[in-house]
Amino acid sequence: MNVLIFGASGSAGGSILRACFSSPAVKEIRAITRRPLRFTHKKLRVFIHNDYLNYASIEEAFVDVNACLFCLGISATQVSGEEYRKITHDFALAAASTLQIHSPTAVFHFISGKGTSMNSRFLWAHVKAETERDLMSLVNAVCWRPAFIDGESSSSSPRLYRVLRPLFRLLKPFRSLYVNGQDLGRAMLKATLENIRGRVIENAEIRDLADH
Ligand SMILES: NC(=O)c1ccc[n+]([C@@H]2O[C@H](COP(=O)([O-])OP(=O)(O)OC[C@H]3O[C@@H](n4cnc5c(N)ncnc54)[C@H](OP(=O)(O)O)[C@@H]3O)[C@@H](O)[C@H]2O)c1
Repeated sequence: MNVLIFGASGSAGGSILRACFSSPAVKEIRAITRRPLRFTHKKLRVFIHNDYLNYASIEEAFVDVNACLFCLGISATQVSGEEYRKITHDFALAAASTLQIHSPTAVFHFISGKGTSMNSRFLWAHVKAETERDLMSLVNAVCWRPAFIDGESSSSSPRLYRVLRPLFRLLKPFRSLYVNGQDLGRAMLKATLENIRGRVIENAEIRDLADH
Protein backbone atom coordinates (compact mmCIF):
# COMPACT_ATOMS: atom_id res chain seq x y z
CA MET A 1 0.00 0.00 0.00
CA ASN A 2 0.97 3.65 -0.42
CA VAL A 3 0.82 5.73 2.76
CA LEU A 4 0.61 9.49 3.18
CA ILE A 5 1.72 10.77 6.59
CA PHE A 6 1.40 14.16 8.31
CA GLY A 7 3.31 15.06 11.50
CA ALA A 8 6.21 12.66 10.87
CA SER A 9 8.64 15.08 12.59
CA GLY A 10 6.67 14.67 15.84
CA SER A 11 6.65 12.09 18.60
CA ALA A 12 3.67 9.99 17.46
CA GLY A 13 4.28 10.54 13.73
CA GLY A 14 7.96 9.59 14.00
CA SER A 15 7.11 6.24 15.59
CA ILE A 16 4.34 5.60 13.12
CA LEU A 17 6.77 6.34 10.29
CA ARG A 18 9.13 3.68 11.72
CA ALA A 19 6.25 1.18 11.77
CA CYS A 20 5.67 1.95 8.07
CA PHE A 21 9.37 1.44 7.28
CA SER A 22 9.32 -2.04 8.79
CA SER A 23 5.95 -3.13 7.36
CA PRO A 24 6.20 -5.32 4.23
CA ALA A 25 2.64 -4.19 3.39
CA VAL A 26 3.85 -0.61 2.84
CA LYS A 27 5.34 0.05 -0.60
CA GLU A 28 5.79 3.84 -0.49
CA ILE A 29 5.49 6.48 2.23
CA ARG A 30 4.98 10.16 1.40
CA ALA A 31 5.55 12.55 4.28
CA ILE A 32 4.17 16.08 4.19
CA THR A 33 6.16 18.18 6.63
CA ARG A 34 7.17 21.80 7.15
CA ARG A 35 10.79 20.90 7.98
CA PRO A 36 13.20 18.18 6.85
CA LEU A 37 12.91 14.85 8.66
CA ARG A 38 15.80 13.19 10.47
CA PHE A 39 14.86 9.90 8.76
CA THR A 40 15.81 8.69 5.32
CA HIS A 41 14.57 5.43 3.85
CA LYS A 42 14.24 3.91 0.40
CA LYS A 43 10.42 3.86 0.77
CA LEU A 44 10.19 7.51 1.91
CA ARG A 45 9.42 10.61 -0.21
CA VAL A 46 9.35 13.93 1.63
CA PHE A 47 7.24 16.92 0.55
CA ILE A 48 8.23 20.14 2.34
CA HIS A 49 5.08 22.24 2.62
CA ASN A 50 3.97 25.27 4.60
CA ASP A 51 0.28 25.90 3.91
CA TYR A 52 -1.78 23.20 5.62
CA LEU A 53 -5.07 24.64 4.37
CA ASN A 54 -4.10 24.39 0.70
CA TYR A 55 -2.28 21.49 -0.95
CA ALA A 56 -2.59 22.60 -4.58
CA SER A 57 1.20 22.79 -5.04
CA ILE A 58 1.76 19.16 -3.86
CA GLU A 59 -1.32 17.39 -5.23
CA GLU A 60 0.82 14.54 -6.55
CA ALA A 61 1.42 13.45 -2.94
CA PHE A 62 -2.31 12.64 -2.63
CA VAL A 63 -2.59 10.52 -5.79
CA ASP A 64 -2.82 6.71 -5.53
CA VAL A 65 -2.83 6.69 -1.72
CA ASN A 66 -4.33 3.80 0.27
CA ALA A 67 -4.04 5.27 3.77
CA CYS A 68 -3.46 8.73 5.19
CA LEU A 69 -2.06 8.80 8.73
CA PHE A 70 -2.81 12.25 10.16
CA CYS A 71 -0.42 12.64 13.13
CA LEU A 72 -0.07 16.43 12.89
CA GLY A 73 -1.30 18.21 16.01
CA ILE A 74 -0.44 20.52 18.85
CA SER A 75 -1.12 20.83 22.57
CA ALA A 76 -3.85 23.34 23.45
CA THR A 77 -1.37 24.72 26.00
CA GLN A 78 0.97 25.90 23.22
CA VAL A 79 -1.34 28.11 21.12
CA SER A 80 -4.47 30.28 21.34
CA GLY A 81 -7.89 28.61 21.13
CA GLU A 82 -8.38 29.94 17.63
CA GLU A 83 -5.02 28.58 16.46
CA TYR A 84 -5.70 25.25 18.19
CA ARG A 85 -8.97 24.87 16.28
CA LYS A 86 -7.29 25.78 12.99
CA ILE A 87 -4.45 23.26 13.42
CA THR A 88 -6.59 20.46 14.84
CA HIS A 89 -9.80 20.79 12.86
CA ASP A 90 -9.19 22.89 9.75
CA PHE A 91 -5.82 21.35 8.79
CA ALA A 92 -7.23 17.82 9.12
CA LEU A 93 -10.39 18.63 7.14
CA ALA A 94 -8.33 20.30 4.37
CA ALA A 95 -6.10 17.21 4.11
CA ALA A 96 -9.11 14.85 4.09
CA SER A 97 -10.89 16.89 1.38
CA THR A 98 -7.81 16.85 -0.85
CA LEU A 99 -7.36 13.12 -0.28
CA GLN A 100 -10.99 12.49 -1.18
CA ILE A 101 -10.47 14.18 -4.56
CA HIS A 102 -7.26 12.39 -5.54
CA SER A 103 -7.65 9.00 -3.77
CA PRO A 104 -11.38 8.53 -3.10
CA THR A 105 -11.03 5.00 -1.70
CA ALA A 106 -8.21 5.82 0.73
CA VAL A 107 -8.81 5.55 4.47
CA PHE A 108 -8.12 8.63 6.61
CA HIS A 109 -6.72 7.93 10.08
CA PHE A 110 -6.91 10.81 12.56
CA ILE A 111 -5.11 10.88 15.93
CA SER A 112 -7.58 12.26 18.40
CA GLY A 113 -6.99 11.44 22.08
CA LYS A 114 -8.34 9.75 25.17
CA GLY A 115 -11.01 11.89 26.83
CA THR A 116 -12.27 13.44 23.60
CA SER A 117 -15.91 14.45 24.12
CA MET A 118 -18.41 16.91 22.69
CA ASN A 119 -19.58 17.63 26.26
CA SER A 120 -16.15 18.31 27.73
CA ARG A 121 -15.43 21.66 29.36
CA PHE A 122 -11.88 21.41 27.98
CA LEU A 123 -11.38 23.17 24.66
CA TRP A 124 -9.06 20.50 23.28
CA ALA A 125 -11.51 17.66 23.95
CA HIS A 126 -14.38 19.56 22.37
CA VAL A 127 -12.41 20.55 19.28
CA LYS A 128 -11.11 17.00 18.81
CA ALA A 129 -14.69 15.68 19.09
CA GLU A 130 -15.90 18.12 16.43
CA THR A 131 -12.99 17.10 14.22
CA GLU A 132 -13.82 13.39 14.66
CA ARG A 133 -17.47 14.07 13.80
CA ASP A 134 -16.65 16.11 10.69
CA LEU A 135 -13.99 13.69 9.42
CA MET A 136 -16.25 10.66 9.91
CA SER A 137 -19.02 12.49 8.08
CA LEU A 138 -16.75 13.65 5.21
CA VAL A 139 -14.55 10.61 4.57
CA ASN A 140 -15.66 7.88 6.98
CA ALA A 141 -12.41 8.44 8.91
CA VAL A 142 -11.02 6.19 11.62
CA CYS A 143 -10.42 8.23 14.79
CA TRP A 144 -7.78 6.96 17.21
CA ARG A 145 -7.99 7.86 20.89
CA PRO A 146 -4.65 6.95 22.42
CA ALA A 147 -3.82 7.83 26.03
CA PHE A 148 -0.05 8.26 26.52
CA ILE A 149 1.87 7.54 23.30
CA ASP A 150 5.40 6.37 23.99
CA GLY A 151 6.89 7.76 20.80
CA GLU A 152 10.02 9.37 19.38
CA SER A 153 11.64 12.26 21.21
CA SER A 154 10.19 15.47 19.79
CA SER A 155 11.29 19.09 19.98
CA SER A 156 7.75 20.29 19.21
CA SER A 157 5.94 18.71 22.17
CA PRO A 158 5.48 20.79 25.38
CA ARG A 159 8.53 20.94 27.68
CA LEU A 160 6.67 19.66 30.75
CA TYR A 161 5.46 16.68 28.74
CA ARG A 162 9.03 15.86 27.70
CA VAL A 163 10.18 16.02 31.34
CA LEU A 164 7.36 13.73 32.50
CA ARG A 165 7.81 11.10 29.76
CA PRO A 166 9.86 8.66 31.93
CA LEU A 167 7.07 8.75 34.53
CA PHE A 168 4.36 8.14 31.92
CA ARG A 169 6.22 4.98 30.89
CA LEU A 170 5.25 3.48 34.26
CA LEU A 171 1.73 3.26 32.80
CA LYS A 172 2.80 0.52 30.36
CA PRO A 173 1.02 -2.35 32.21
CA PHE A 174 -2.32 -0.50 31.93
CA ARG A 175 -3.84 -1.28 28.52
CA SER A 176 -6.17 1.72 28.53
CA LEU A 177 -3.48 4.25 29.53
CA TYR A 178 -0.34 3.53 27.50
CA VAL A 179 0.51 2.66 23.92
CA ASN A 180 3.88 2.28 22.25
CA GLY A 181 4.09 4.65 19.25
CA GLN A 182 5.12 1.95 16.78
CA ASP A 183 2.24 -0.24 18.01
CA LEU A 184 -0.11 2.62 17.18
CA GLY A 185 1.36 2.64 13.66
CA ARG A 186 1.00 -1.14 13.35
CA ALA A 187 -2.64 -0.87 14.49
CA MET A 188 -3.33 1.82 11.86
CA LEU A 189 -1.84 -0.32 9.09
CA LYS A 190 -3.78 -3.36 10.29
CA ALA A 191 -7.04 -1.38 10.39
CA THR A 192 -6.34 -0.27 6.82
CA LEU A 193 -5.82 -3.85 5.62
CA GLU A 194 -8.96 -5.00 7.49
CA ASN A 195 -10.93 -2.14 5.90
CA ILE A 196 -12.05 -0.72 9.25
CA ARG A 197 -13.84 2.60 8.61
CA GLY A 198 -15.88 5.29 10.27
CA ARG A 199 -15.35 4.67 13.94
CA VAL A 200 -13.51 5.59 17.09
CA ILE A 201 -10.80 3.30 18.48
CA GLU A 202 -9.85 3.64 22.16
CA ASN A 203 -6.43 2.87 23.66
CA ALA A 204 -7.05 -0.73 24.78
CA GLU A 205 -8.36 -1.68 21.33
CA ILE A 206 -5.31 -0.05 19.72
CA ARG A 207 -3.11 -2.40 21.78
CA ASP A 208 -5.32 -5.38 20.87
CA LEU A 209 -5.07 -4.57 17.15
CA ALA A 210 -1.27 -4.22 17.39
CA ASP A 211 -0.90 -7.49 19.32
CA HIS A 212 -3.03 -9.80 17.15
N1 LIG B 1 1.97 12.25 22.59
C1 LIG B 1 0.92 11.72 23.21
O1 LIG B 1 1.05 11.08 24.27
C2 LIG B 1 -0.45 11.90 22.64
C3 LIG B 1 -1.53 11.26 23.25
C4 LIG B 1 -2.81 11.37 22.70
C5 LIG B 1 -2.99 12.11 21.54
N2 LIG B 1 -1.94 12.73 20.97
C6 LIG B 1 -2.16 13.49 19.74
O2 LIG B 1 -1.28 13.06 18.72
C7 LIG B 1 -0.98 14.14 17.84
C8 LIG B 1 0.53 14.25 17.71
O3 LIG B 1 1.07 14.47 18.98
P1 LIG B 1 2.65 14.39 19.24
O4 LIG B 1 2.82 14.03 20.68
O5 LIG B 1 3.31 13.56 18.21
O6 LIG B 1 3.04 15.92 19.04
P2 LIG B 1 4.44 16.56 18.62
O7 LIG B 1 5.58 15.70 19.00
O8 LIG B 1 4.39 17.96 19.14
O9 LIG B 1 4.36 16.56 17.00
C9 LIG B 1 3.41 17.36 16.37
C10 LIG B 1 3.58 17.26 14.87
O10 LIG B 1 2.62 18.16 14.25
C11 LIG B 1 3.35 19.14 13.47
N3 LIG B 1 2.73 20.45 13.61
C12 LIG B 1 2.29 21.04 14.74
N4 LIG B 1 1.81 22.27 14.46
C13 LIG B 1 1.96 22.45 13.13
C14 LIG B 1 1.66 23.52 12.23
N5 LIG B 1 1.12 24.69 12.66
N6 LIG B 1 1.95 23.37 10.92
C15 LIG B 1 2.50 22.22 10.48
N7 LIG B 1 2.83 21.15 11.27
C16 LIG B 1 2.55 21.29 12.58
C17 LIG B 1 4.74 19.17 14.08
O11 LIG B 1 5.63 19.69 13.11
P3 LIG B 1 7.01 20.41 13.58
O12 LIG B 1 7.91 19.26 13.99
O13 LIG B 1 7.45 21.10 12.35
O14 LIG B 1 6.67 21.31 14.72
C18 LIG B 1 4.97 17.69 14.39
O15 LIG B 1 5.27 16.97 13.21
C19 LIG B 1 -1.64 15.39 18.47
O16 LIG B 1 -2.87 15.63 17.83
C20 LIG B 1 -1.88 14.97 19.92
O17 LIG B 1 -3.00 15.63 20.49
C21 LIG B 1 -0.67 12.65 21.48
